[in-house]
Amino acid sequence: MDLTTYKLMHLLGMALVLMSLGARAFFAMQGGDKLSDKARGLGAGTHGVGLLLLLVGGFGMLAKLGISGVPGWIHPKILIWLLLGLAVAVPYRKPELAKPLWFAAPILALIAAYLGLTKLG
Ligand code: HEM
Repeated sequence: MDLTTYKLMHLLGMALVLMSLGARAFFAMQGGDKLSDKARGLGAGTHGVGLLLLLVGGFGMLAKLGISGVPGWIHPKILIWLLLGLAVAVPYRKPELAKPLWFAAPILALIAAYLGLTKLG
C-alpha cells in the first residue's frame, strides 16, 4: 500500500474514534447508560475499527516515510492513542466525566495531528 492509502486509513481512523466517543459521551449526557444504549455494539465496533485504522495507518506511514524505529514525536501520539482507547469506558462508568471528555477528545486529536504534521519532539 502507498503512503496516501496509509494516510487515509489514519484520517478515517481518527474520524471513527472521535465520532464514537462523541456519540457515547453525548448519550451519557442525556442520562443514557450501558443498558439503554441500543447501538452499543455499533459504537464499540466503530471505536475499535477506528483505533486499528489509526494504528495501522500511523505505523504504515512511518514505514513508507523511511523512518526507522519509533522517533520521539511518536511517543506522545501512542499515549494519546491509548487515552482515546481507554476513553470509551468513561461515559457509562463516570457520566459526570462525559462532558469533559467531549472537549478533551478533540483537543487530544489536535495535539496528535500537530505532532504528526510538525514532527516536533
Ligand atoms: C500509534 C499512534 C500514532 C502513530 C504511529 C502516528 C503516526 C503518524 C505519522 C507517521 C504521520 C505522518 C506524518 C507525515 O505525513 O509526514 C501522522 C500524521 C497525522 N496523525 Fe498520527 N499517529 C498516531 C496517532 C495519532 C492519533 C491518535 C491521531 C488523532 C486522533 C493522529 C492524527 C494524525 C493526523 C491528523 C496527521 C496528519 C495527517 C496528514 O498528514 O494529513 N495520529 N501520524
